[in-house]
Amino acid sequence: MTTAINRPTRTHYCGDLRLAHEGDRVTLYGWIDRRRDHGGVIFLDLRDRTGIVQLVSDPAKTPATSGLAGDARSEYVVRVTGTVHLRPEDSLNPRLATGQIEVYAEELEILNRVAKQLPFAVSQNDLDGEKAIAKEELRLRYRYLDLRGDRMSRNLRLRHEVVKAMRRFLEDEAGFMEVETPILTRSTPEGARDFLVPSRINPGEWYALPQSPQLFKQLLMVSGVDRYYQIARCFRDEDLRADRQPEFTQLDMEMSFLSQEAILDLNERLICHIFKTVKDIDLPRPFPRLTYAEAMARFGCDRPDTRFGMELVDVSEVFAVTKFKIFAKTLESGGVIKALPVPEGNDAISNTSIKPGGDLFSLVQQYGAGGLAFVRVRAGGEIDTIGALKDSLTDGLKARLLELTGAEPGTLLLFGAGDEAIVNESLNRLRLHLGLQLDLIPADKLNLLWVTDFPMFEWNEDEQRNEALHHPFTAPNPEDLDDLVQARAQAYDLVWNGVEVGGGSLRIYQREVQEKVFEAIGLSAAEARDKFGFLLEAFEYGTPPHGGIAYGVDRLVMLMAGEDSIRDVIAFPKTQQGRSLLTDAPAGVEDKQLKELCVASTYEPEA
Ligand code: AMO
Repeated sequence: MTTAINRPTRTHYCGDLRLAHEGDRVTLYGWIDRRRDHGGVIFLDLRDRTGIVQLVSDPAKTPATSGLAGDARSEYVVRVTGTVHLRPEDSLNPRLATGQIEVYAEELEILNRVAKQLPFAVSQNDLDGEKAIAKEELRLRYRYLDLRGDRMSRNLRLRHEVVKAMRRFLEDEAGFMEVETPILTRSTPEGARDFLVPSRINPGEWYALPQSPQLFKQLLMVSGVDRYYQIARCFRDEDLRADRQPEFTQLDMEMSFLSQEAILDLNERLICHIFKTVKDIDLPRPFPRLTYAEAMARFGCDRPDTRFGMELVDVSEVFAVTKFKIFAKTLESGGVIKALPVPEGNDAISNTSIKPGGDLFSLVQQYGAGGLAFVRVRAGGEIDTIGALKDSLTDGLKARLLELTGAEPGTLLLFGAGDEAIVNESLNRLRLHLGLQLDLIPADKLNLLWVTDFPMFEWNEDEQRNEALHHPFTAPNPEDLDDLVQARAQAYDLVWNGVEVGGGSLRIYQREVQEKVFEAIGLSAAEARDKFGFLLEAFEYGTPPHGGIAYGVDRLVMLMAGEDSIRDVIAFPKTQQGRSLLTDAPAGVEDKQLKELCVASTYEPEA
């Protein structure tokens, strides 16, 4: 009788068995993925975190286990001891890494049974074709079962490999040191809403969870740490999307005495190391770069997906003199007219889609645009359109339009006219939408690029003030100090196929510059002292020039895994509503707890 005390130790993981193990006696532990009964001969697929191996229980060859094998069901936990055999010719399975062998189940022990109906099948056997993936709500409610399956366990492992590669490079090749920074802290300057934690022993006072370790990593530079990194959990109370979670993980870095060029170079080497180690991909270096101004002009977006063309073209000058009222008005009021050329768009897109009520019209409307004008480029460079625009297009204008856009026959030119920010945003969305719809985005392409020279500030219409685009410790370009409001920042983002995977900057380390920046964002000296006094004070005691960057680990791993949502690469994520369906957090607390914290609920939630 086997008991827990004398149970044999595992000799192998299931997924590691190969032809070379033929004849070996092995002990495996895992879960039953599937059971098939072939007239008394029972096949069990045994799964552990490495994969699947086929067990055979045959009344003729392994009589001791045939009864138990018949009892086994999906997700039972078992131990098997047996011998590795070459599979018969007709049952080789090239889709399985272990598909050349099988294990004769000479001993089988059921360690645990499944007591309830499984909410969904974990089985990973359906390797070809569409996987029958259960609804996400169900997967999140029973996340431990979901993580047992092939896709999620591969994602977890990939995440582990990515983080391991980061640590190896930073520690072994670049001299970085990991330092932990507080989770219970003060508000940090990333600009989202804070999650707040009441302090019981300091009634009426609150900690904020860090939106990033920004201030602490800068303090560590003042401390002389020189090269800091941390795999850091960050918390931001903002509207959630597929690539945003309320708590997420950054690879956070800060370095002293390095120029922007040196920082970008080191970071390219880091990213190349990760891709080489984890995916065996050699990324070409240096990574392409776009300035913010170029990215906005050509793509209407500061994180452009450059895997496909359809770049925006400013055609305002073509319509400088036009009878087409909407365009004339736009230009008069300081707006712009930009074209989005859709190659072969004449065949693919109907007038109905573009006109009021059409799908493309509705899409740009969501982003504030009034509508879309268009022309169709025909054979021989003829230009064809409808309505008032048709009447106002002279031959000269047509020729200039073709020249500026380079449009070939067959191209549909869509126009956005109006406030530059709205035109950029709506045409960017339209470009991405059509890129997908017309299948123009090559899925296997991997475009990494730096976007640099962000503006220091953007205008916040609601608050009627300039706001730091990155954060208020970002250093302005020294060439632009005369007009700080218009200045470019020494800031950079890393963009991968249209997703911002990282962002950072050189920091201000001189008090006068910092004061000017606070002034520019409308922060009084007293407010600055109140919020960031400890940092400003530290800056008085000998601060090295420094800079850094933070990567969204979840986003990086999501892209590497080929997933569309960071929820699929986080072990226990929250829903779009910020809920954990597993633990049912957030949840109410007892009055007693609130009392201890001196917290009373005085506000009704806003409708
Ligand atoms: P930033 O705010 O740009 O910079 O964040 C850095 C990176 O973190 C990721 N990220 C997120 N990922 C998932 N969910 C979220 N809610 C979320 N928010 C951001 C993105 C982003 O590029 N302290 C600065 C960095 C620095 O200046 O060094 C910072 O946090 O991939």
